[in-house]
Amino acid sequence: MSERVARDGRERYLVTSALPYANGPLHIGHMAGAYLPADVYVRYLRMRGEDVVFVGGTDEHGVPITLTAEREGKEPQEVVDYWYAHMKETFSRFGISFDNFSRTSTPLHARNTQIFYEKLKEGGYISEAESKQMYSPTEGRFLPDRYVEGTCPVCGYKEARGDQCDNCGSWYEAYELIEPHSKITGGPVEVRETTHLYLDLPKFSDRLQEWVGRQDHWRDSVRNFVLGMIGGGLERRPITRDITWGVPIPEPGFEDKRFYVWFDAPIGYVSSTMEWAENAADPDRWRAYWQEPETKLIHFIGKDNTVFHAVVWPAMLMGASESGEEPFVLPHDVLANEFMNLEVVVNGERRPMQMSTSRNLAVWLHEALDDFPADLLRFYLASILPETADVNFSWRELQERVNSDLIGTLGNYVNRTLSFLERYFDGEALRPEEISADAKEVFADFKEIEARYEARMLAGRPRDALGELLAMGRRANRFFDAEAPWKSRKENPEAARATLYACSVLLGSIAYHAAPYVPEAVERLEKFFGGTIARVSDLEKLPDAYRANNAKPLFRRVEDSEVEAAERRLSAAAEG
Ligand code: MSP
Ligand code: ZN
Repeated sequence: MSERVARDGRERYLVTSALPYANGPLHIGHMAGAYLPADVYVRYLRMRGEDVVFVGGTDEHGVPITLTAEREGKEPQEVVDYWYAHMKETFSRFGISFDNFSRTSTPLHARNTQIFYEKLKEGGYISEAESKQMYSPTEGRFLPDRYVEGTCPVCGYKEARGDQCDNCGSWYEAYELIEPHSKITGGPVEVRETTHLYLDLPKFSDRLQEWVGRQDHWRDSVRNFVLGMIGGGLERRPITRDITWGVPIPEPGFEDKRFYVWFDAPIGYVSSTMEWAENAADPDRWRAYWQEPETKLIHFIGKDNTVFHAVVWPAMLMGASESGEEPFVLPHDVLANEFMNLEVVVNGERRPMQMSTSRNLAVWLHEALDDFPADLLRFYLASILPETADVNFSWRELQERVNSDLIGTLGNYVNRTLSFLERYFDGEALRPEEISADAKEVFADFKEIEARYEARMLAGRPRDALGELLAMGRRANRFFDAEAPWKSRKENPEAARATLYACSVLLGSIAYHAAPYVPEAVERLEKFFGGTIARVSDLEKLPDAYRANNAKPLFRRVEDSEVEAAERRLSAAAEG
């Protein structure tokens, strides 16, 4: 078994991934936006020996859930119980290594949400106001906008949604619709006055602006979005809704209302950390991650979640920090990713298309995992993460990336090094008396590539870091080719042995840097590769020996027939 080299001076991180709505299966877009980049990042931090807690969980409240329940004739609880278990299992099959995966329907979370609310109220950040909402007399309840349909007040389109017209794109208030009716029963709806609680966002405007202005390390896209929003003037936001599914509101007169899902959801990160601490029999331990100022709090999300994580949530944390308890930390970074779409063959033509749950047009993760090893999917997705622009998932490109980069460059290097070692040197490479000039040069090159990998990874850009891993693979293969141990083996066996030693050092570095992306393969590698898996930069002295025993290929190729079958499935959904 190999050992890993850790470093001194641990830093503390609390890393979160967006809480997915528990109303359907996970698809590759979710992974690309919020889960895979976080997992790769967290695995890297853990490997360096940092103090990391990675929390997640399902978002079980809100209209997306009640709509699904209504459509399926079930109770919301039934829906979320099913999808919580389904998602938890899918995440685990995909190797997303949460330290805790919770859910927002727990009593702990309800209590925690109410405490947050009380703190915000004490700070003077909550107010009450009347507003207009659609009411269904036949159903005897208020209807969320998404339950209402009618004729568009702008273009006259008959099936316009409660808040937006799919025909002309106009936004409006539901009560502006002509002949509004319930989407569920078709019955007429009317406007009624209702009372809600509001978060006084404008009170945080100056502090938010000052704080975000200082976050030079943030992505421009996120920082500019926030500054633009503050510049345009913040408005107070309702944090309650006229529904019966959600966290109860601790105020008289609000018995029939619940907190808005986006109020309680981010608090779910704290609740999940609390649950983690309870499970570790150290219930106060969550405080170290949320209240000690040196903690780096990092949120991974898709871009549609930006306003909630970079504006509303920091304001909530600021407002809840004035109660005399230790203040909360604010996000060190909000890593908002762009979107992943699909490349689909429609009537013989390749086209980018948005994923659509209702049309079943998506690559569902649990299905993809039935056909391909997790590592292989992780590798391809990591290579196209939407870190800077929207991207398209393509089965054809997956085949190309896996077969040429993962297998052709990285796997091939591992194979040739280990099989050479086993075949000609009894699987053993001892440190030679002298390190050749060529070996010193390749080590120096590796140190440079390692530094670039590290910088990109720590900046929350695992896709860019993966580019550096491939650069390591190419450089190592070039070294192997140039040294040609298959020739020197006969003329100068000691030189060949020294080459294989140097190759093993490089292999240790490649394995170290590959582990966050393809953890399962590196775990298997450790069974037949005995030696230090570490950065060349971290080797204080070169190890005495490396060993190989019964090495096997780490990856399998992706066949044309598999690509064709997968593409046909997408075409059928798109054309059908
Ligand atoms: N429940 C909210 C998040 C609450 S966080 C306190 C939510 N859920 S979601 O299930 O709709 O999406 C989960 C995550 O996946 C979100 O961060 C979302 O932005 C991301 N993505 C969903 N589809 C995506 C793509 N096609 N591409 C990239 N990210 C995507 O939003
Ligand atoms: Zn319209």
